[in-house]
Amino acid sequence: MSMTEANQPKKDWRFILIAIVAGLGGLLFGYDTGVVAGVLLFVNQVFHFDASMKGLFVAIALAAAAVGAAFAGALADAFGRRAVLIVAAVLFSAGAILSSVAGTIPILFLGRVMVGAAIGVSSMITPLYLSEITAAHWRGAIVTINQFYITVGIFVSYLVDYMLSGTPDGWRWMLGLGSVPGLILLGGMMVLPESPRWLAGRNFIEKATAGLRFLRGRQDVSEELGDLHRDIVEDSRRAAPWSLLLTRKVRKPLIIGVGLAVFQQITGINVVIYFAPTIFRDAGLSSASGSILATVGIGAVNVIMTGVAMRLLDTAGRRKMLLLGLYGMLTSLVFIGTGFLIQLHGPLTYIIVGMVAIFVAFFAIGLGPIFWLMISEIFPLAIRGRAMSIATVANWVSNMVISGIFLDLLLIIGRGPTFMFYAAMTVLAILFTLWIVPETKGKTLEQIEDSL
Ligand code: BGC
Repeated sequence: MSMTEANQPKKDWRFILIAIVAGLGGLLFGYDTGVVAGVLLFVNQVFHFDASMKGLFVAIALAAAAVGAAFAGALADAFGRRAVLIVAAVLFSAGAILSSVAGTIPILFLGRVMVGAAIGVSSMITPLYLSEITAAHWRGAIVTINQFYITVGIFVSYLVDYMLSGTPDGWRWMLGLGSVPGLILLGGMMVLPESPRWLAGRNFIEKATAGLRFLRGRQDVSEELGDLHRDIVEDSRRAAPWSLLLTRKVRKPLIIGVGLAVFQQITGINVVIYFAPTIFRDAGLSSASGSILATVGIGAVNVIMTGVAMRLLDTAGRRKMLLLGLYGMLTSLVFIGTGFLIQLHGPLTYIIVGMVAIFVAFFAIGLGPIFWLMISEIFPLAIRGRAMSIATVANWVSNMVISGIFLDLLLIIGRGPTFMFYAAMTVLAILFTLWIVPETKGKTLEQIEDSL
């Protein structure tokens, strides 16, 4: 048993600092993706967007996120996790301010591209950094804190959208407010140390020791350092060229990571997150404000259930929760699809609203946090950065495709079949999980690597 488990450190101010500061990457991710739903209504009028420009406005940040995530892994392996997160924080703040003062479409889009790239980078590096600086015992909780912050960011963006929708030029504030957590993240990353794992891998042993002491709050970290070292030596014995991704050792975790990435998106979560007001209006809620308020409610359910997941993941286990979440998502999707097919109306439309809330709740205890958690756990250190990049890029590309075609899908095949399609994808996700996803609860990263 390693030091990390035998001698569990107490939760103290360091734990809280890590949780707050590094988690801000997640908050910005949530805020900046969620906020477009409201912003779209207004920029639309100012810049006279047609439908395809609207689509482009949403997609451009998602595309930049995919590119950001593609380069983040290699950059984080080369320059360290902390340096890359600092650059992301600068991009978040600068992009938010630029888009908020934009007078022309190119400047508006440039700001969104900067923010999108930062989202992509931090969506990958934040869980990686958190999993590396956290003792095994807390890992499930601290990495899901990232997912928690994503949901808080989405919720806050809905609230801000709701509160500013009556203000002249409110959309500028909606976009610009993203700079505040960006600046806090920047300040916090100045205080936190570089990942000791990464430092030890580069042979900066003194810095790695100092970082571990800071993080664990005690003098003697020699055993944990020993564990780290063994792992690193082991990994470096086999050099880590890109071709390592094709070896048996990496193939299985890669299938798991990319599979979960794609299933997280093609089961339809962001159709709800980005288009909930539209779905509710289509379902029959008469007023726009009622639809937006229902959306705020969905945001709250997402936050609360992610909080529940954080409490459960290290005791109940990831695989069980993932399956439970998927069964719940499947059931609610079938209800939503059926509700649209039989055209519920009057007060019965609230069944659809309720089922959307249940869908989000089950996503939040399963596929939401567990995808991000698993991709920070299952890859060998030597290739972890790059492998996580691949899974994260797959996640953003699937997100872009699914969100991009949603409105067209509604027009072409209709609402009921569209949700039945997400239900069918959820069945595939269940089969995939039963087939290949392992339990990683309570294991050190080294043990997980061995078991795969
Ligand atoms: C997903 C996002 C999604 C969010 C919703 C995350 O895990 O990656 O695409 O918007 O959960 O809470």
